[in-house]
Amino acid sequence: MKKATLIGPFKQIITMTGMPLKGAVKDSELHIISDGGILITDSTITKIGGFESLKKTEKIEETITLKGNHVCVPGFIDAHTHICFGGSRAKDYAMRNAGKSYLEIAHAGGGIWDTVTQTRKATQVELTKSTIKLANRHLKNGTTTIEVKSGYGLTVKEELKMLRAIKEANNSALPDLITTCLAAHMLPKDFSGTETEYLAEIADGLFPILKAEKLANRIDAFIEESAFSSQDIKAYFEKAYDMGFDITVHADQFTPGGSKVAVDFKAISADHLEASTDNEIEILANSDTIAVALPGASIGLGCDFTPARKLLDAGAALAIASDHNPGSAPMGDLLTQASILGTFEKLTNAEVLSGITFRAAAALNLSDRGRLEEGLLADFAVFHSDNYQDILYNQGNLKPCMVWKNGNLVFDRHK
Ligand code: NIG
Ligand code: FE
Repeated sequence: MKKATLIGPFKQIITMTGMPLKGAVKDSELHIISDGGILITDSTITKIGGFESLKKTEKIEETITLKGNHVCVPGFIDAHTHICFGGSRAKDYAMRNAGKSYLEIAHAGGGIWDTVTQTRKATQVELTKSTIKLANRHLKNGTTTIEVKSGYGLTVKEELKMLRAIKEANNSALPDLITTCLAAHMLPKDFSGTETEYLAEIADGLFPILKAEKLANRIDAFIEESAFSSQDIKAYFEKAYDMGFDITVHADQFTPGGSKVAVDFKAISADHLEASTDNEIEILANSDTIAVALPGASIGLGCDFTPARKLLDAGAALAIASDHNPGSAPMGDLLTQASILGTFEKLTNAEVLSGITFRAAAALNLSDRGRLEEGLLADFAVFHSDNYQDILYNQGNLKPCMVWKNGNLVFDRHK
């Protein structure tokens, strides 16, 4: 049992309390505690408020007194990544910048299939190690929860290798890893049947093992001309839904259509949405499905950004994630990408911060994190500053000086 520990004073604590899940938000709606303190016991926040008053009124066994100006925000939540993979796709990046499109590269044997080939060559232990390494790198930038997808195995056996590697990585990585099965990433080139035959084989062979070994509670599919159609995915998603999996969709990346499938199947989130039109925006805004923008994929591919402003103005819930993967989003810096999306899409600080905290938690169906409140996980990032606006203003170049995960100081830049 960890002692009741008071941390502070923070010049500002941005709690994200009381903000709406959906729609546009103004910076004036941010709940800011000035000269605040956070009391933690074990992994959770037991009290949050003014530092001096907490010192006087609460039973405290240890006090960590901060010197200088510090701003505290909830640990960032990256709700969409593919950080478990083998090899590199630097070649794709060079080809793309020399004028070839994502789909042209894929059709020429590059793209996702290249990473499948390289990931199949890696051992489970190698994948575990590389996933931990990337997850811990993200932690230093303030990310305390990371969703990680499979999807580079594309057989029951190879998907299991990936999913077990991610589960194993979660035992040692500093952030929490939330696993998603993306066996429906593309029709593997070495599968001799149709899309529906492949999906049936995966659903029958893999879904029961996901449950039995508690490997993943989330099923994702790439709905796209180059991957699976709305028709192909129907039986697969029906089975996933009936078995109690949460559904999430790679939707409207190059062509619209996936977001409607997401909403029809009550998906927790629809991610990408770069090609969403007003029709898809309206469908998403009138649903409980969280819209997830992936600016890292737009930057990596040189494509349009997700229409984040329009989604928010229509009333959708907007999360922002990095999509960190070796192909379309190799940078993997959530804070930089979220800041840049904000400048291009004219998002308020409150909207960007919501997108990488409590709205991202909702995209993962997690209610125990994303805000700094009593009873929630003590996951937070601390920046050397006297004003929270500095965080996005620096476009990712202002790094946290400390990161706390589950009530533990897991990163201290001064040490
Ligand atoms: O989210 N769009 C499909 N899947 C990934 C790309 C993965 C890859 O290129 O390796 C994405 O961008
Ligand atoms: Fe993705």
